[in-house]
Amino acid sequence: MCGIVGYIGTQPAVPIILEGLKRLEYRGYDSAGLAVCCGDNQLQVRRAQGKLRNLEKAIQLNPAEGFYGIGHTRWATHGRPTEENAHPHRDCKGDIVVVHNGIVENYLSLKQQLQAEGHVFQTETDTEVIAHLVEKHFQGNLEEAVRATVKELTGVFAMAVISRSDQSKIVAARSGPPVVIGLGDQEFFVASDVTAILAHTQDMLFLDDGEMAILTPTGAQLCDFDGRQVSRQVSRILWNPIEVEKGGYQHFMLKEICEQPRAVRDTTLGRVGLDTGRIFLNEMDIAPAEFSQFRQVRIIACGTSWHAALAGKFMIERLARVPVEVDYSSEFRYRDPIVSEHTLTVVISQSGETADTLAAQREAKQKGSKTLAICNVAGSMITREAAGTIYTHAGPEIGVASTKAFTCQLTALFILAMRLGQANHSLDESTSRCLMQELLGIPGKLEEVLSNDAVYEALARRLHHFRNALFLGRGIHYPIALEGALKLKEISYIHAEGYPAGEMKHGPNALIDENLPVVVLATRDPASSESRVLYEKTLSNIQEVKARDGLVIAVVTEGDDDARKIADHVIEIPRTSELLAPILEIVPLQLMASYRRAPRLRRGSAAQSRQKCDGRVTARAPV
Ligand code: M6R
Repeated sequence: MCGIVGYIGTQPAVPIILEGLKRLEYRGYDSAGLAVCCGDNQLQVRRAQGKLRNLEKAIQLNPAEGFYGIGHTRWATHGRPTEENAHPHRDCKGDIVVVHNGIVENYLSLKQQLQAEGHVFQTETDTEVIAHLVEKHFQGNLEEAVRATVKELTGVFAMAVISRSDQSKIVAARSGPPVVIGLGDQEFFVASDVTAILAHTQDMLFLDDGEMAILTPTGAQLCDFDGRQVSRQVSRILWNPIEVEKGGYQHFMLKEICEQPRAVRDTTLGRVGLDTGRIFLNEMDIAPAEFSQFRQVRIIACGTSWHAALAGKFMIERLARVPVEVDYSSEFRYRDPIVSEHTLTVVISQSGETADTLAAQREAKQKGSKTLAICNVAGSMITREAAGTIYTHAGPEIGVASTKAFTCQLTALFILAMRLGQANHSLDESTSRCLMQELLGIPGKLEEVLSNDAVYEALARRLHHFRNALFLGRGIHYPIALEGALKLKEISYIHAEGYPAGEMKHGPNALIDENLPVVVLATRDPASSESRVLYEKTLSNIQEVKARDGLVIAVVTEGDDDARKIADHVIEIPRTSELLAPILEIVPLQLMASYRRAPRLRRGSAAQSRQKCDGRVTARAPV
């Protein structure tokens, strides 16, 4: 996972590329580099190992100037994270430079062939073969050389190339990882992610697989790998450029966690009829009547989005009484799955560009299934291929750990479950109205959860010396246990597992002792008999952990004294419907993971910091 950014226009390119790379640093940070051209035949390359600030220092010491160029932030796949292996990579003469995201699978055979033809390699990377191939095919026209090159590559790639011998031109190509082109006023951008260039333009063209873009100071042209011109509608990205700033927060993850009340509110509003409880999903090519025709729902996703899918199964089966299967995209695409025209396939992806999810979506479509996307990025590939999209209005998610996209995905799934239930008549008007009221109350309850961040920070400190952690939940709370464990692994580098609490007695209880903290999702909805049963059973699981001297942190519904009596620590969340509780439960786990890695440096709660930034929030004193 690397980041690419490029600029061509009338302004100095270096500051624009560096700023774009800062937005992409979450994608890779073991080295960074850029190349700029200044029109007098000078191609200047600067690279540095480690974080982007090292590249900035290198440029301060040895400035580079030009009105177009390309940059890269790297997460090593082929070759160690050294300065030599940092992008951009050059051909033999240093005339052609390339930045690349992806993996060239046939690079070894290509390298051997090129070496036999006399090309001299400087690095251990797969990317360098691209530079030498472009050199081999170059006959004065860069896009023709790139076109000939991509036909020799197998694997996945997003690339941007410039050459000193065909000046004032950036050529980009895509086969797999995303490439987006930004359209400005006499200036054009290329990037692997809209957030890198959003500060400059909101008008974007997304390349499809098998397409190239040729950027010059006067325009951007799209064509396919055979040279046929492609026309593409401009996507206007309605995110506010301010949203890609940290806005006073210590890091993006914390900012994005704190944005959840706004994000969930935006994902809900406009889709709900307040008087009738009816759901409106007008953004799709699925006729209202069709919603009652589906005999099965299949949800496909990866990672955090897959955890949302697991929770969505409970929502849809409970409210719409339609059977739901959940698949990892990476498994679904390779196992000849059974789907038909009676199956609604829901694909969930924050980015809308995850390769396995896109491939799985194509597989489902090819088997005759309608696909509906739940996605955060307008115009992304998955949304373009879906019959309809429920956009999560989370805003740009820059932190590598997904947080606000997850709670918005849960919100969108709840809305979809209600829509399917209303179409099936399994959800009556009065229940719809009650659920809708609960849903509309969630943003306020998220504010309450966030205002207790001092509790989560103290617990994160308590977890500090443990090297392992276990997260337990039952029913719809089990996916939250999985997501809580993923956040801790990803952010704190602690080994953590999520497990279905009812399965502990079948072996894993043997692991529990005083060295294993166990986070238990033990909320209850007094209005639901299923929830009461699960809650009682979860209390027994807490007893089992205590009997083995495990340290228990229980996430409970406010006012729950029973769990408080047996757990070592409790985190209270406001009362809500069982199907919506996951949106609240995950927030303390996100914050604990974030504080376990980087405790707050300044005084003041996350909620107070949020108030400072958007001026809208009423913070409650931390307890
Ligand atoms: O963009 P997507 O939702 O398709 O991404 C899928 C996963 O890579 C992603 O959810 C990942 O697991 C999270 N960033 C983890 O926090």
